[in-house]
Amino acid sequence: MSDNGTPHGEVVSHDSDGYGASAVRLDQGHIEGTGGLPERFENPGLPPHVARMADHDEKAAKRAEKQVATLFGLSSLFTVVFVVAFFAIDRESTAFIPGIGQTSLYNVVIGVCMAIALLGVGVGAVHWAKTLMPDAESVEYRHTQRASDEDRQRVVSELTQGGEKAQLGRRPLIKYSLLGALALPPLTLVVPLAAGLGPVPKDALSKTMWKKGDRLVRDPERTPIRADQVTIGSVFHVLPESIKDSEHVLEDKAKAAVLLMRLNPEDIKPQKERDWGHEGIVAYSKICTHVGCPVGLYEQQTHHLLCPCHQSTFDVTQDCKVIFGPAKRPLPQLKITVDSEGYLVADSPFREAVGPSFWERGHA
Ligand code: FES
Repeated sequence: MSDNGTPHGEVVSHDSDGYGASAVRLDQGHIEGTGGLPERFENPGLPPHVARMADHDEKAAKRAEKQVATLFGLSSLFTVVFVVAFFAIDRESTAFIPGIGQTSLYNVVIGVCMAIALLGVGVGAVHWAKTLMPDAESVEYRHTQRASDEDRQRVVSELTQGGEKAQLGRRPLIKYSLLGALALPPLTLVVPLAAGLGPVPKDALSKTMWKKGDRLVRDPERTPIRADQVTIGSVFHVLPESIKDSEHVLEDKAKAAVLLMRLNPEDIKPQKERDWGHEGIVAYSKICTHVGCPVGLYEQQTHHLLCPCHQSTFDVTQDCKVIFGPAKRPLPQLKITVDSEGYLVADSPFREAVGPSFWERGHA
């Protein structure tokens, strides 16, 4: 506590300003007691209301209405031009812009149209508020959070009256141009977003390169595999032989990668798994059904396949059902057989989409 009895802060003299004999500087921290602060602050009140031209001159009001409608109309017009330009202007074309030089015509037109569309609705709303909407200031005193029922009714009726005073009913030009100006500008964001998502994938996520008769070839050697080369306990990383014709090798390989294993046929429990394999040789998609990592680890003794990303574990003896980890679906099995030369071939494409879930996948 300081000598003068003020617990915190510096005491300064303010004899002449109505604060009493002394006042405490507020930047010195916490204040206890009155510290010389005035008993109460006077309400400065509101400045007197000044009527605007449109308040008493119907011609001025009409003029303001037209100006607002013009701004909203400009906004709508340039939104439409924006959409047309987005599709019509060649991305490669350039134009000479004074002060900038040779630059992309597409960027300039799109940017200018978007700016005018957004500015039009913004400036129009401000101009409307400043010229035609009621501008009398009102004071609302603090009160408990929930207003009384009478107050709530009063607010509703004041809002209704406010709408009437805003002359929405009387000025249909503004009403309808505002509707357009509010409804269309979001297109400047939605159209580029929707058009920029790229081509629709169609069935690209559901199909791989595998087709009936495609030989299984080693990855990366790309040599075909005879059934008698796959001994019990061995595992091969394989691809379809047709991968050599792919124009997008990495993408096709990422979906078509398969693991080939040979088990003792008696260890295989589901009949379907045995039927889709060949004498204990089975082929499963290598793409984890969790989020698509390659399932890279095979435990010979337990016949478990492990995904190193989040430790999902698939049991090969049970049609690769998930026995641990976050994956929700078994690895899809590729139906295989042998051709006339004894080489392993696909007997059909995958019967379901490989990899993680996506919206149109169809079933869990
Ligand atoms: S991607 Fe395989 S467990 Fe997550």
